[in-house]
Amino acid sequence: MAEINGWEYIALKSAGSTNEEAQKYCALQNRKTVVRADVQTAGRGRRGRNWISEYGNLFCSLVFEFDLKYFGYLVMISALSLAQAVESFSKQIKPQLKWPNDVLLNGKKLSGILLEKGEGDYIIVGIGVNIASAPEKEKLLYQATSLSEHGIDCTAEEFLSVYLQMFDQNLSLFDKQKNKQRIEWLKRAYGIGRQIKVCCNSREEKGIFIGIDDDMTLLLQQGEKIKKILAGDVFFENGEINEGI
Ligand code: BTN
Repeated sequence: MAEINGWEYIALKSAGSTNEEAQKYCALQNRKTVVRADVQTAGRGRRGRNWISEYGNLFCSLVFEFDLKYFGYLVMISALSLAQAVESFSKQIKPQLKWPNDVLLNGKKLSGILLEKGEGDYIIVGIGVNIASAPEKEKLLYQATSLSEHGIDCTAEEFLSVYLQMFDQNLSLFDKQKNKQRIEWLKRAYGIGRQIKVCCNSREEKGIFIGIDDDMTLLLQQGEKIKKILAGDVFFENGEINEGI
């Protein structure tokens, strides 16, 4: 079987969704596996949305055993590793992280992550990165960008290889560097100090986005009190990058 940076590597010409394909590799083997497809015909985004999956971009899913009680930590390092992978290609580019795990370049969405539970103790981290092109604005709820628009020339596989290095490095620091990693996440955070609205199911919370705690809970300042938000859709006042999360 092929390998990429210590991960079992399944490279497909096409898949419905690599997250769906990845389900097959839960519990079948005890090695960590990454499934990548050149295109997806039914790419999935968060909250039941679809993920437009154009040829030349990265669509992959990492499958490995993971203790779900640290889910928030995984959300944090999955996105942080993506930002660090982008930074390794160019010193000029400053990726930003939109809570909980989108990567933005100049306020436009570069990538999204869909974490799903696999069978048993397996977790699936599905990653989509616009490498060669960004889907047209008309097809999206938000503005998107690509690495190629920012002068980064690499293939989906090259980017994946760097991402896996960053991800493994971050995961190996689990427990030792948790707070440092949170600080790294916060350094790149999009919208800190700004008024936001978070829609959590049927509820709506407004306040100032002041940070995250170490399980990725969003911290919202509401007057004197700080409200912790586990999950929801973040909206900014002027309509920018207002996709739900
Ligand atoms: C989001 O909505 O921001 C998350 C998008 C996640 C897309 C990736 S592409 C690879 C993997 N397979 C899927 O069907 N979805 C994820």
